[in-house]
Amino acid sequence: MKPHVYLLAIASVIVLSSCFKNDKTFSKTDYELFKMAEKKEGFVWYKNSEEYLDKSSGTGHSNPLLRTRYNAIAATMLDGNGRIIEGINFPEGSLIVKELYDANKKLERYAILYKNATSPDADAKGWVWGYINSNNTTAAPASLKGKSCVSCHSQENNIDYMLMNKYF
Ligand code: HEC
Repeated sequence: MKPHVYLLAIASVIVLSSCFKNDKTFSKTDYELFKMAEKKEGFVWYKNSEEYLDKSSGTGHSNPLLRTRYNAIAATMLDGNGRIIEGINFPEGSLIVKELYDANKKLERYAILYKNATSPDADAKGWVWGYINSNNTTAAPASLKGKSCVSCHSQENNIDYMLMNKYF
């Protein structure tokens, strides 16, 4: 092999293995949640608005700015103003993605709720909890089943765990 071809081959192996190494920090569920959150099409924004909101006083999420969106299935549970209808339970397949930003509107993290009762990572209500950084690392793996999230999201006036209605 010519030296430059040889070097190229080594370089590709290094690049490829670092990609796979990144993926290893993800379980299959985390990876699927991340891929679903990265898609932007077919979502409806909370209150039909893509504006950046200041985090609420009740939040457990440290990032200063947020935006929340609902896939087509979850959006069937929103009223005409884009707020969640009181007393509903989200149907199977509902995906809610909260985008968390720094003060300069740079995306830092996704907080995700995905109703998928058959997932091995689903909690008792069928929700899978995703907490994934924009740089491909998990902030809280889905396998924890929302261990650090559920109690706060079960507070008074939640709707099927959702808190956007309460604070915005
Ligand atoms: C101490 C309370 C608290 C904890 C802990 C917490 N959250 Fe939240 N979360 C909130 C509040 C309040 C909101 C409403 C938006 C805001 O102000 O951040 C919210 C919003 C969300 C939303 C948008 C949907 C909605 O209406 O609630 C998702 C998804 C979410 N959190 C996921 C998570 C995940 C995943 C974890 C755990 C890794 C978690 N949360 C831990 C308080 C908390």
